[in-house]
Amino acid sequence: MNKTTPDPLKRIAAWHAAAARAGEKQPDAMTIATIAADGAPSLRYVLLKGLSAAGLVFFTDTRSRKGRDLAHDPRIAAALRFGTTGRQIRVEGLARLLPAEDANIYWETRPRTSRLSASASFQSAPLLSRELLVARRDALAERLAGRVVPRPAAWLGYCIEPGRIEFWTQKPGRLHHRELFTRILRGWRISLLQP
Ligand SMILES: Cc1cc2nc3c(=O)[nH]c(=O)nc-3n(C[C@H](O)[C@H](O)[C@H](O)COP(=O)(O)O)c2cc1C
Repeated sequence: MNKTTPDPLKRIAAWHAAAARAGEKQPDAMTIATIAADGAPSLRYVLLKGLSAAGLVFFTDTRSRKGRDLAHDPRIAAALRFGTTGRQIRVEGLARLLPAEDANIYWETRPRTSRLSASASFQSAPLLSRELLVARRDALAERLAGRVVPRPAAWLGYCIEPGRIEFWTQKPGRLHHRELFTRILRGWRISLLQP
């Protein structure tokens, strides 16, 4: 990247921080879209847990519907919306599985209750009754009393490596500002889009 091209990942961090400062309730809420084997799209919210030079990081159960989608097609789209600052960020790219060590580090920061719940759940699989899930969680809590709750092997992180990032800013009279960063060989090409 040459010196004059702004780094869009740094801008995502700056916009996220500005929204948090402005009192955004859940600036980490990020919606991600994946593609099923039959080509059907689906989306759901996850928490944005990290931003690096490589991309945007979230954690999940890789056996889930999204995990299965990403295993056969790593293309992913994500959006963040900050109502407090009138901004939207759209990201399109590839989801890469992160090494288990990254998941271990985040797993350690999670409350014990969250770890037990994640361990007791096979995310996205059908559930016969809520009582069964609670019983499974309680049995696990009893079995692991006084011991660490190990990270389920399938509970891992993905990094969304963006090929395209759009920064949208609300402007008066709906003449919104849209700035598109498209990844090129070395850095990013910047262009504007009509609102
Ligand atoms: C604000 C918000 C944050 C969420 N964060 C996560 C998350 O970080 N990881 C996750 O696996 N699910 C998260 N969920 C639950 C997902 O939206 C979804 O229900 C779950 O991952 C199963 O999705 P799937 O069946 O499409 O794989 C979150 C839900 C909400 C509303």
